[in-house]
Amino acid sequence: MSKPIPVHASMDQFDTSKNQILVGGKTLDSISTILDKSVFYAYDKSIVKRQIERFHQAIPKQIKLHYAIKANPYLPLVNAMRDWVEGFDVASQKEMIMAVQSGMPVEDISFAGPSKQEGEIKAAIAAGVTLHVESELELSRAVQFGHELGILPIVAFRVNPAFELKASGMKMGGGPKQFGIDEERLMEILPSLNYQQMQFRGFHIYWGSQNLKEEAIIDAHNKTFELAQRLMDVTPVEVTTVNIGGGFGIPYFAGEKRLNLEPIGSNLEALLVQYPQLEKRELIIELGRFLVAEAGIYASKITDKKTSRGHTYLMTNGGLHHHLSNSGNFGQVIRKNYPVAIGNKMNMTADKEAVTAVGPLCTPLDTLADKMQLTDPQIGDWLVVYQSGAYGPTASPQDFLGHPHVVEIVL
Ligand SMILES: Cc1ncc(COP(=O)(O)O)c(C=O)c1O
Repeated sequence: MSKPIPVHASMDQFDTSKNQILVGGKTLDSISTILDKSVFYAYDKSIVKRQIERFHQAIPKQIKLHYAIKANPYLPLVNAMRDWVEGFDVASQKEMIMAVQSGMPVEDISFAGPSKQEGEIKAAIAAGVTLHVESELELSRAVQFGHELGILPIVAFRVNPAFELKASGMKMGGGPKQFGIDEERLMEILPSLNYQQMQFRGFHIYWGSQNLKEEAIIDAHNKTFELAQRLMDVTPVEVTTVNIGGGFGIPYFAGEKRLNLEPIGSNLEALLVQYPQLEKRELIIELGRFLVAEAGIYASKITDKKTSRGHTYLMTNGGLHHHLSNSGNFGQVIRKNYPVAIGNKMNMTADKEAVTAVGPLCTPLDTLADKMQLTDPQIGDWLVVYQSGAYGPTASPQDFLGHPHVVEIVL
């Protein structure tokens, strides 16, 4: 008996009622004509907005939503998001300049990163954004540069909590980590820092990423509030802001389900009651992929079709150099298929064929879809990879083998 075909939960966000994937109301052929390109990323603004609405419907109103630009730094998207979220998190000087120029108020921009260079620290101080300080030396550098520039650096500590995010492939807290300052050490230094030398804001407690288990996020929130309270208790100055992390994941693979935000929101409501002192602070959740990944597709053309010892291969003009994460080489241990479809043949009841879609690179790693059932795939059709709105072009080795870079569009 043949095994049932695994189903991706995440292929319902785009309009396919006319047998075609529409992005922002446009067919792939139209987008291709607009761009004069046959391989591209397209992002649908309405899907980003829907995702932000989902967040606000479930999460208590006083918790602010910040966007981590690293997930998708495509400038027109960042500029559009400026009006939809309450702040930006940046991870480099380039992202910081983007965030500042978008018009986002500087007090709502924070700069995190475990190895900030002197120029970056100075730039953050001069721009007036909040530095998420990740080591004691970084703090003394910030103080020194602030003194030289005649500006008090705006500082929050990134905390490496003692707890770990359960059920997550991307843990950024707990145990030894390059991120932030261990909570035990912070508890020691917080009482006696010279707060005159900085504008102190509070704490950034970031524990991980891409989590689809509500109970794991709830557990991390419980521990984050408890930790924030303990840190506040030993801090002799006012704590104005606590960033309580992010970590909301999206379903990439067959069998995964979308995160249910309702229990996470109800638990946060309860925590705000349980910790009245925290309730009075500015509280922030910082998300990247959750906001943008589902809004993006990567489209390439099938340019050849051949069989090798009974197996059918589709050759395309897109590949790993544009979309490393889809190839399975960006944090996956075992490669799994992203949701993939023939974008101009979306009638899901039509006959399917088992195929492997590959790109132009001379490496078996350059696989876009491995042994997937696709609808009547032919030369000239569009091969579309869903869940491609985050960690796409900027997380891919675009110069590898010298093929053209990919273009992007927001619709
Ligand atoms: C500090 C920080 N914030 C936000 C993010 C964004 O993560 P995600 O896109 O999974 O939400 C990351 C991911 O590396 C991060 O390190």
